[in-house]
Order: sequence, then C-alpha cells, then structure tokens
Amino acid sequence: MDDPYARLDYRKLIPWPKRLEREWSFLRPLLEAAPSRRILDLGCGTGEHARFLADRGFDVVGVDASPGMIQAAIESGEQAGVRYVLGDLADVRSLVEGTFGAAICLGNTLPHLHDDEAVSQFFKGLRGLLAPPGPFILQLLNYERIAATGQRSLPLTFIPDAAGEVIFLRLLEPQPDGTVVFVPATLSYRPEEDPPLQVLGARTVRHRGWKRPELEELLEQAGFRHRLLHGTVADVPYVTLESTDLVIVSR
Ligand SMILES: C[S@@+](CC[C@H](N)C(=O)[O-])C[C@H]1O[C@@H](n2cnc3c(N)ncnc32)[C@H](O)[C@@H]1O
Repeated sequence: MDDPYARLDYRKLIPWPKRLEREWSFLRPLLEAAPSRRILDLGCGTGEHARFLADRGFDVVGVDASPGMIQAAIESGEQAGVRYVLGDLADVRSLVEGTFGAAICLGNTLPHLHDDEAVSQFFKGLRGLLAPPGPFILQLLNYERIAATGQRSLPLTFIPDAAGEVIFLRLLEPQPDGTVVFVPATLSYRPEEDPPLQVLGARTVRHRGWKRPELEELLEQAGFRHRLLHGTVADVPYVTLESTDLVIVSR
C-alpha cells in the first residue's frame, strides 16, 4: 500500500506518555476484565500502545499495513510480550493465530479503510478472533461533527526540539462524497529566524468519514451485538454534534 506515514516520525509527533496515561484510565477496566491477557492492537503504528500494555503484563500482537511504521516499532526495541505483524486489517483473520481477550483500534485508524466490504471483512474476521465477551475498542474522529461544523483542522501539537519547536498541523477538507482529505504536516518553528516557520514534511491522505450509524450496522452484521458509545477515549458520553471522537466498545 501507499505508505503515507513513512515521511512522518509518528513516535515524536504525539505526546505519547501523556496520551497513554489519559487513555489508560478508560482502557484499564476494560482490558483487566477481558477473558484473556492476549490483546490485538489494530493499526498499531509505531507500537506505543503495544509496548505500554506489555509493560502492564499483557501479551500484545500489533498489526499494521505500513512497513515504515512496523519498522519504526521494531526499532523502538525488542520487548517481551510484543509482536508485530505486517498486514491489512481486512485480512486480520488470516494474519494472526489463536484467540484474543480484547482488541483496540485507536488513533483514527479505521478511516484509512474506505470500502464497506473491507470494513465488513475486518469486523467479521475480528469477531472470530475475540473470545466472548472480549471488548473491541474502536476510536475515530467524530466525522458527523466535522461534516456539520465544517471543521478544518485538528488541534495543533507543539513538540520542543533542540533549537525551538516542531508544530504538528493536521488539516481536514471534508468532500461531498463523504471522504475527508487529511493533510498531516510538520513545521519547524524558530521564532528568532526569518521566516520563523518552515514546512518539514506534508502528506495528503484520504480518509473515509465513517459515521456512527454506518459503523453500528457493520458491527451488528459482524456479530457484535452489544455496543457502548463514548465521546473520546474516556468515560464521557457520545454527543453526535459535540464529541471530538466516536469511541465504540463492542462485544
Ligand atoms: C494514525 S495511525 C494510528 C496509530 C496508533 N494506533 C495510534 O493510536 O496512534 C494509523 C495507522 O493505521 C495504519 N493503517 C492504515 N490502513 C491500514 C490497513 N488497511 N490495515 C492495517 N493498518 C492500516 C497506518 O499504517 C498507521 O500506522
């Protein structure tokens, strides 16, 4: 596949320790109560969740379709309890063996899958891998809100570096066909220089702006009968036109 993340150092662009700790208060009770400590991290990127969970005694298999991301994950260090698999989520059923107690798919990974057919195959494959009542925790942006408000960007992230800061900018261009052109870009910010800002890297990625009813239907068809909705990776309710994220915990 095209590897839109190969040019961005995802490890540095996300304030990982803060994010992982914030998400952990939500994930912990779900994962600790799972029927087994084998966890699937779907769209694992550079493996931060996988390593964080392995540190807490889970046995994690991370799946990602980007050779660049998997390579970066491996280079972050071998660790007991973590394994990475290169492959497409639509093929998850044939990529891993055995059953799992829970699965996470975080960081707006699902919108990279555009077709109903691919997502249906992903959800059905996953259903067969999860030991009941193991949860599938899915997080994506709330595209219903983005479409309704015409939101054009995600909040900026500022990352200190040796001579100033790197700014992580993410532009959104909702399209009439329900896709969203997503432009992640990094800018070098040197307040003392002229010009103070320079583009380090930028890419265009097309997302499908999956909406809650579409996903609930595909989950139901795949056999996920129980679903709880949250407005982000925290114990807050989902409000269609207000929540930043759509988080679905399905069983
Ligand atoms: C924005 S990153 C999210 C990474 C991480 N899960 C997080 O929470 O930050 C999205 C990831 O999904 C992966 N991805 C995109 N399409 C995929 C597919 N069809 N199958 C597997 N992984 C995919 C990308 O390579 C990328 O690593």
